[in-house]
Amino acid sequence: MKVTFYGHACFGIEINGIHILVDPFITGNPKASHIDISTIKADYILLTHAHQDHVLDVEEIAKRTAATIVSNYEIVMYYVAKDLKGHPVNHGGTYKTEEFSAKYVNAIHTSSFADETYGGQPGGFVITSGEKALYIAGDTAVTMDMKLIPMTTKLTASIFPIGDNFTMGVEDAIIASDLVSCDTVIGCHYDTFPPIEINKETAKEQFSNKDKDLILLTIGETISL
Ligand code: NI
Ligand code: MN
Repeated sequence: MKVTFYGHACFGIEINGIHILVDPFITGNPKASHIDISTIKADYILLTHAHQDHVLDVEEIAKRTAATIVSNYEIVMYYVAKDLKGHPVNHGGTYKTEEFSAKYVNAIHTSSFADETYGGQPGGFVITSGEKALYIAGDTAVTMDMKLIPMTTKLTASIFPIGDNFTMGVEDAIIASDLVSCDTVIGCHYDTFPPIEINKETAKEQFSNKDKDLILLTIGETISL
């Protein structure tokens, strides 16, 4: 499982040549101006919720790639009405392919499109392939529901928002990593806009003080899990 950071909360995940794109918001992110979205591969586009900083580039990328959009019912129907391909799930449900499965799990947040269309209830995903499992929390507060995840899944890593203000911040993300029993955290949803700016060195130190690893990728960087 290879994970590429495209800025903010957008990640590309490659599993055996299959490309999954999560929450594409690139052209609106000045920090990601070096990323050319016309080169991004996508067989599936997973959307945690409908906020603009998670879906801005969905239509352009889905049109070019003919990717299947996987998200909650309301979000998928919104794109199906625009002649894009989609597969709806809802909380607790798992989308299964031969290469991976993606379970839509609870998040505490809100979800509406920029045009004010209702975007259903927000979620996160647990993506599993073979021995590897990656939890993408989506925009969320820390929630006790996170404790359910390790009851069925041994996580390899978790992607947590750490920018505070709109989501949990660093302290709560440390608690979240305890709840999901996974000490390897990839941070996202920080530094894109002034209200979510963080001190990256302090954040890493706070994690390492608890014997946890906070990975902060540069935009465009890829790691293997
Ligand atoms: Ni949001
Ligand atoms: Mn957001």
